[in-house]
Amino acid sequence: MKKRILVVSSANMDMVQKVSRVPFSGETILEHGGTYSYVPGGKGANSAITMARLGADCVFMCKVGDDPNGKRLTSLYKSEHIDTRYMIVDKESPTGLASILVESNGANRIIVFPGANGTMTGKDVEGAFNCYPDAVYLQFEIPDEAVIEACRIAHRKDIPIFIDAAPAREDFPLEAVAPVEMFSLNETETMIFTGIDPTSDANCLRAAIKLRNRTGAKYVVLKLGERGAFLFDGEEFYNYPAEKIDVVDTTAAGDVFTAALTCYYMENGNIGAAIRFGNAAAALSVSRAGASSSIPTLAELNEYKKEKDEGSPEE
Ligand code: RIB
Repeated sequence: MKKRILVVSSANMDMVQKVSRVPFSGETILEHGGTYSYVPGGKGANSAITMARLGADCVFMCKVGDDPNGKRLTSLYKSEHIDTRYMIVDKESPTGLASILVESNGANRIIVFPGANGTMTGKDVEGAFNCYPDAVYLQFEIPDEAVIEACRIAHRKDIPIFIDAAPAREDFPLEAVAPVEMFSLNETETMIFTGIDPTSDANCLRAAIKLRNRTGAKYVVLKLGERGAFLFDGEEFYNYPAEKIDVVDTTAAGDVFTAALTCYYMENGNIGAAIRFGNAAAALSVSRAGASSSIPTLAELNEYKKEKDEGSPEE
């Protein structure tokens, strides 16, 4: 039977603007060559869609507004075979919106207006545990109270917790989530939580030890962009190089990586293989535009891996 993963996190509509460069303060740019579009996003939704497309039994608990964006997102999740039973429609707040600028090198800048995501309470989260999850997956795009309550319930029920610590907030009480199975974060988030720039193995290790001490994580996984991923298991550290691929848009790559890693790990229990699986999923995501629109299916991922193996020289 497939593992059931409960994602308690955020849902946004992304307004994506593709620009040749971002404006300076006070500057107006007429972007003749650019485009804009509305693409379903949100760190939680991107993760839930990744899990569903990779074959997991995903239950998504989030809050949306009673508006057209909320309806569009809900029907997308249903069409992706995500269990939406525990989603809440907030009559008072709009659906979350992210404003995303994507430059020609694929790098992005994101501002999130939380809307209904920002009203999730500890009480809201409780009911979702009735789905008997095998794992709980959390991010920080919802209020701290909701994250901490989800961890409290998961600990009580002995359910492993996976945290993708995005977006980072210096004042988030990391000790309140301990102990977790896996704690994953990118370079910026590592800097914010530890004050250490993960530019070398020594710095990655110092940061990972600090994070492990605070979260009690069995595994700390640092996402280092084009340098790949760094794993610390409490004793040793390991480097996993990123896949070589032409970058179109990095939006959601971090969400896809950690969600894919979690699915694989839950099914197979091998953290190294799970990170390699996450790297491949993230590579396909950065080769495509947008958030949810960039997420690969299991068939696409298998095809990519097959082509890569066939293309590699014989030993
Ligand atoms: O990680 C990418 C996501 O961050 C976007 O989809 C946006 O909605 C923000 O949550």
